[in-house]
Amino acid sequence: MTVVAVFGSTGAQGGSVARALLKNGFKVRALTRNPDSESAKALKNQGAEIVKCDDADPKESIEKALKGSDSVFCVTNFWAYFHKELEYGINIANAALSAGVKHFVFSGLAPCNKISGGKYNVPHFDLKYKIEEHLRELSKNNPSFVTSFVYVPFYMQNFKTYFAPKRTVDEKTQDVTYVLGLPSDPKGLPLDMGDVDDIGSIVAVIMKEPSKYSGKVIPYSGDALHGDKIAEIMSKATGKKVVFNFIQPKEYAQFGFPGAEEMAEMFSFYNEFGAFNKLDKTEASKMAKITNLEEFLRKSKFQLE
Ligand SMILES: NC(=O)c1ccc[n+]([C@@H]2O[C@H](COP(=O)([O-])OP(=O)(O)OC[C@H]3O[C@@H](n4cnc5c(N)ncnc54)[C@H](OP(=O)(O)O)[C@@H]3O)[C@@H](O)[C@H]2O)c1
Repeated sequence: MTVVAVFGSTGAQGGSVARALLKNGFKVRALTRNPDSESAKALKNQGAEIVKCDDADPKESIEKALKGSDSVFCVTNFWAYFHKELEYGINIANAALSAGVKHFVFSGLAPCNKISGGKYNVPHFDLKYKIEEHLRELSKNNPSFVTSFVYVPFYMQNFKTYFAPKRTVDEKTQDVTYVLGLPSDPKGLPLDMGDVDDIGSIVAVIMKEPSKYSGKVIPYSGDALHGDKIAEIMSKATGKKVVFNFIQPKEYAQFGFPGAEEMAEMFSFYNEFGAFNKLDKTEASKMAKITNLEEFLRKSKFQLE
């Protein structure tokens, strides 16, 4: 049975991957900093082996945690350790090679800086691309170390958290409207979005055929929509009035929360080049069922309070 070590196993991407791999008959080694957490216990109950590991650990510790694994799924967590992402990602890749791992699937993102000819800098994209380049180099020099990549779009889950429509009440009429504020330009490219929980089924297919997916990038997108269409679909799903409000990226960058500038820059890139630029978004839907926005809202019981 193929043993797959999963980084970020208690999180959104890694959790989806761990569950899908278990369903598909893989032996999952779920890596976590805290084996006693409820999420780790839930994975254990589903049959995963739980192994203590921190993305920030030294190479020798990560290598030890990976020993005996045939494959690895790795997502790095920019929003937890910011520019350390590159160092940790490279360290994990090197540890995997030393541990004898044969197939490494990395959750990457498009190289904004390269695609835009230096116009946009989005570290959580560009650093992941540098990790991808390092993995490709390792694979080139060690042909038995196969690498594959999956690119995840803007999570639909963000509409329930950071980008949840805000309730407003008209003072005169008392009419309630929900305002979806997004730096997604109505004159630009539509916003690619996806249910993060779809990543698991895609990675399970990649893990089954390492040589078929060797060196490949698989981006997925459940829908590519402009803001007014997103608001329309939300209105239909909830029976509430949702309207779209375009926030200029420059204005969004001034919002002051950590990461606001980076998010604004990311949206400027999305608006001009799309999440995946020229990559083929259709392959993923031949590999797995990809959830569209309407389905996601229904499935996740999306509500506006
Ligand atoms: N949000 C979006 O729309 C979106 C879209 C595309 C890509 N992304 C990318 O997704 C990545 C995050 O993935 P996710 O959403 O799956 O994250 P998440 O749900 O926050 O999970 C991250 C996991 O990393 C583990 N971890 C291991 N070492 C860590 C450390 N030193 N510090 C913090 N966490 C550590 C944590 O597990 P334990 O606590 O159990 O150790 C945690 O479960 C980011 O890099 C982001 O750029 C996000």
